[in-house]
Amino acid sequence: MIDIHSHILPGVDDGARTLGQALTMLRMAADDGVTVQALTPHINAMYKNRPEDLRAAFDRFVADASGIGVELRLAAEIAVSPEIPGMIAGERMPWVGAWEGRPAFLLEFPATLIPAGSLRLVGRLVASGVTPIVVHPERNRQFQADPTLLADYVKEGCLAQITSGSIAGEYGRTPFQTAIRMTEEGWVHFLATDCHDETHRPPGMKAGLRQAEEILGKEGARALVMANPSRLLGLATKEAP
Ligand SMILES: [Fe+2]
Repeated sequence: MIDIHSHILPGVDDGARTLGQALTMLRMAADDGVTVQALTPHINAMYKNRPEDLRAAFDRFVADASGIGVELRLAAEIAVSPEIPGMIAGERMPWVGAWEGRPAFLLEFPATLIPAGSLRLVGRLVASGVTPIVVHPERNRQFQADPTLLADYVKEGCLAQITSGSIAGEYGRTPFQTAIRMTEEGWVHFLATDCHDETHRPPGMKAGLRQAEEILGKEGARALVMANPSRLLGLATKEAP
């Protein structure tokens, strides 16, 4: 499996605090069956990570984690903000990959609401040639109150990622039901862990994958953890027969 969203890179946000904790999390991911792990630290008002600093931290971690045998990629989880077009223009975007030739990034909304103007911002971004990936909409109160809002973002040209723990029922009833609905409707392209630690928000996609299989069948569910992420990260051609 390929996990496109994690907070394993240590010491840069509210994820892993120490190298030891990060290595433990990465070993858990490997044991769960993850072969490619994206490290996606927050870039938001609280964690103003600069791409060059993340790259330096990433290079150190790649060396420290070399024995674990999981391929690592660096990206980021970027909070919705009017600064995003400027980051793109300044070539300072930590892209997670590309979709149909268009660079893609992880886009986060606050937990409680969708800021006014977000759909318009997303429309401008798509028109400029990039693909936002809306992360964990099932954990946002406004999307929970009206899951069909996600359809608007997908129609606008976004992709969507739900959290494996949500659809596995590990984060409560509302994220669970919202994740189920979004998956049933076909608005979801990726399942990812968004892991932050070893206990409360741990690595692990298998339970979520099993739940997704109930809805989409084996092949449809595997697309969320294999075919689609592999296409996003540019691995698809390598895996083709
Ligand atoms: Fe995250």
